[in-house]
Amino acid sequence: MVHGSKNNNASCLRSVVLGVGAYLPAKTLTNADLEKIVDTTSDWIVQRTGILERHIAADDETTSTLGVRAAERAIANAGIDAQSIDLIICATSTPDYTFPATATQIQAALGITRGVAFDLQAVCSGFVFGVATADKFLRSGSHKRALVIGAETFSRLLDWEDRTTCVLFGDGAGAMVLEAQEETPEKRGILSTHLRSDGRHREKLYVDGGPSSTGTVGHLRMLGKDVFRHAVGQVADVMLDSFKEAGIDAGTLDWFVPHQANRRIIDASADKLGIAPEKVVTTVDKHGNTSAASIPLALDVAVRDGRIKRGDLVMIEAVGGGFTWGAAIIRW
Ligand code: UT7
Repeated sequence: MVHGSKNNNASCLRSVVLGVGAYLPAKTLTNADLEKIVDTTSDWIVQRTGILERHIAADDETTSTLGVRAAERAIANAGIDAQSIDLIICATSTPDYTFPATATQIQAALGITRGVAFDLQAVCSGFVFGVATADKFLRSGSHKRALVIGAETFSRLLDWEDRTTCVLFGDGAGAMVLEAQEETPEKRGILSTHLRSDGRHREKLYVDGGPSSTGTVGHLRMLGKDVFRHAVGQVADVMLDSFKEAGIDAGTLDWFVPHQANRRIIDASADKLGIAPEKVVTTVDKHGNTSAASIPLALDVAVRDGRIKRGDLVMIEAVGGGFTWGAAIIRW
């Protein structure tokens, strides 16, 4: 039994998307650039992952500065006053500092002095976990407007001598503004969320440093094949449960916006669930794997190019270190 939540409480509050925004650092690193750094080929990277290029933060950029840019764009897209936001959740595994939370730095940079801001750590699943958490705050009535951010500078966690990992990741940030609204006949908003974790898989994807273990930042380490197997094999449970609770199936879904780790994982997951390829939003070719930022970055692309429209049914889904995994269905 997967633990999830169905938005059927008596008050009928729903978390409705008001806007999205994203930011990518200006500098790009192509596969050809990587050929000069490690023993790899562009052909290998493209065949195994579908990645062509990724963005890398400049020296004067940090996770919070990327997050602020994405947040500003999401707030502008929502057409609201930043001061009306009373909940900020930043999903990240690459915080500016061990503490305070990156979310509080983003809150300050946005000039917001009310409400609450905190970080959420679920690695690549962080944005889905953040959306699910914000949804619970909003539907409880305790908070009115939430800003959920996924922001990462994974380039700073990578071992640039390890070709099995350094070719996969990139930097960036994305954000979403959600508002608690009374349900209308349109039934817009988050329809269901399902989260899972299983901590037995730590050694398959982890960072070999931390304040309490080594006193260092450490580097990302991964058993790629094991992660791949889990990503395609086990995460279907949260997607199937999300379909069931939202009362829809793969056929009625308009858009599938999965975590952008690898083109092969994305295609295999969609195929397994019976989601048509033309409904899948893919940005991994241009962004690489930006961990918690990948889904809001992809949502921003699909909203701006006109694919995702008001009333569309959108599923987001991710798997990450831990392992953690989750899915949410949103009527846009
Ligand atoms: O957000 C979740 C984060 N992680 C992921 O999503 C990653 C999931 N895993 C994957 O995407 C894939 O496992 C990878 C793309 C990481 C690797 O693909 P693979 O098909 O599983 O390759 P492999 O690890 O089995 O490696 C095959 C060969 C090996 O050489 P040998 O042992 O066959 O001689 C590797 O050493 O490819 C070699 N290799 C490379 N060759 C050129 C590994 N990395 C590279 C590289 N360039 N960058």
